[in-house]
Amino acid sequence: MATNLTGKTIVITGATSGIGLATAEELTRRGAHVIGVGRSVGRCRAAEERLAALNPAARPAFCTADLALQSEVRRLAGEIRGLLAARGPAALDGLVNNAGTFTYWLALTTEGFETQWAVNYLAPFLLTHELLPLLAAAPTARIVTVSSESHAHTSLRWADIQLRRRYNGLLAYQQTKLADILFTAELNRRLRGQAPHVHAFAADPGLVDTPIGQKGTPELVQWVWQRRRDAGIPPAKAAQGIIALLDEGLAPRPDTVYWRHGQPRQPSRQAQDAAAAQRLWALSEQMCGTNNGSLS
Ligand SMILES: NC(=O)c1ccc[n+]([C@@H]2O[C@H](COP(=O)([O-])OP(=O)(O)OC[C@H]3O[C@@H](n4cnc5c(N)ncnc54)[C@H](OP(=O)(O)O)[C@@H]3O)[C@@H](O)[C@H]2O)c1
Repeated sequence: MATNLTGKTIVITGATSGIGLATAEELTRRGAHVIGVGRSVGRCRAAEERLAALNPAARPAFCTADLALQSEVRRLAGEIRGLLAARGPAALDGLVNNAGTFTYWLALTTEGFETQWAVNYLAPFLLTHELLPLLAAAPTARIVTVSSESHAHTSLRWADIQLRRRYNGLLAYQQTKLADILFTAELNRRLRGQAPHVHAFAADPGLVDTPIGQKGTPELVQWVWQRRRDAGIPPAKAAQGIIALLDEGLAPRPDTVYWRHGQPRQPSRQAQDAAAAQRLWALSEQMCGTNNGSLS
């Protein structure tokens, strides 16, 4: 039976398209108060109207932020804090770090980071850090970061982690998805001591029929992705796996971080490297300037 999520407040990034939009829709149908995040004012407005039509009582809200920029992630966190404070006791039951991008060419953000590294990895790290006090204030809370099976095709290139010297778009994407799993593992390790009622998961949605490979990419890449996505599952099906992880009925296993369609899976050997997870955490704190963070 579908879990009733009435009264739960869940932030989901990248909620204007694909897996994120489908997840936001299903959460809203089940009564959750969704705070969606997108980068375009128009697409956020359209998604908010769509959710409100599904369940007006759930009072969905959207915030616009370009997650490629840390300044925007911090501003977004402030906006979310304000929204929650206006609605009653400020607590957050779930955070879904779903927003993701694929860039074929090397593109640096105005803050000097490689775009995929910034959106797919640093934004989840920083947004989680910023929202952690709100998550810790809930009786139980879940953090789901959307990774990918493609993490298994690479290891982290420590000497050039953003691949700025020798860029390869696919490799850069795979690295971010591996980093998402290492981050989740290290986050759980730190949460165990300080906030054991908050648990983090890395979700692998499988191959999903979404436009991710067709946004600003060369024509050939768009053609290839069209053929790949044709073989993918519908976003609504992928959303079920994410929602399963937000369900309090699912008991987290302390040693399992990587889940596909709501079932625990073994990630790659590189994704289970505890020393790499700690090294990545320290590097991420440097990159985000969060050295005084609550989980440091
Ligand atoms: N599709 C797959 O087969 C697959 C497989 C494994 C993992 N994933 C992961 O699933 C997640 C969702 O991807 P999807 O396939 O659903 O793709 P999608 O349809 O393109 O959705 C991506 C979402 O992220 C948003 N976004 C992108 N860059 C952003 C930025 N700089 N700031 C704020 N929001 C931004 C997009 O906004 P716009 O609507 O404005 O573009 C959109 O809402 C990603 O993390 C992806 O890596 C996908």
